[in-house]
Amino acid sequence: MTVVAPAVAERFRPGQFVAVAVGGEHTSLLARRCLPVYEVKPDYGGTVEFVFSADDPGSRWLASRRSRDALDLIGPLGRPFPLPRDPAACLLIGGAHGSSGLFALADALRQRDCKVHFVLAAPHAHQVYGALSAQRIGDSSTVITRDGSLGTAGMLPDLLPGIIDRTEADVIYAAGPTGLLSAVSGIASALGIPCQVSLGELLGETGACGIGVCASCVLPVIGDDGHTRMVRACVEGPVLRGERIRWNDLGTIPLDALGGPRAPQTALEAAP
Ligand code: FES
Repeated sequence: MTVVAPAVAERFRPGQFVAVAVGGEHTSLLARRCLPVYEVKPDYGGTVEFVFSADDPGSRWLASRRSRDALDLIGPLGRPFPLPRDPAACLLIGGAHGSSGLFALADALRQRDCKVHFVLAAPHAHQVYGALSAQRIGDSSTVITRDGSLGTAGMLPDLLPGIIDRTEADVIYAAGPTGLLSAVSGIASALGIPCQVSLGELLGETGACGIGVCASCVLPVIGDDGHTRMVRACVEGPVLRGERIRWNDLGTIPLDALGGPRAPQTALEAAP
């Protein structure tokens, strides 16, 4: 969907998102939809394009908007992708529709004389987003589907080490489902490659306000001091360092998180 939003287009940086109210004036749903931005353009004073799948009542309402309808939208929101200071070989990994958030990043990296290599992974061909654009923009582009219906058949974690080797990647950027981001972060960390992941998809599922006040998007992240803190994906993210996220503890508040519940230290303490 493309909307005219000059103020958003002017300030946008790759990796940021918009929060859209859905449901209309009288039937509005409480939760906004937090949607990664695909692209901004100077057309009509400044347009913003985002991609979403119409698979629930709110997004179906959004998909049914017509030309010239007004939308209640705020943005750009969140922490963008940090860009390398010097030209670098960058590997951009997108899972299913999550890859839509990587194309504006590719443009920004190009402007810094970086190499851009795309990997688009999905279970099936119809879930791959942006294969042609990736081919057009990237120095290389690899499509992986689990069932082999498009590109190479296989699983991303199995093929990724070879792709990293071939592209001589200095840095990895990834966006998509949390399972994919977790796997990519683990491999990047093992190989000592910096990895920035966008939790746009997680935010789309859990986020509600998009501005840091509802706490519905919190996740445990390890800080520079080694302590775990609960951070908000919409404000401290959606882009975070992959190896800092406690992937196995998503959806929980770990006992050792600062400010979180603590495990009893002794049997005595545990007694009523
Ligand atoms: S979506 Fe409300 S705090 Fe993040």
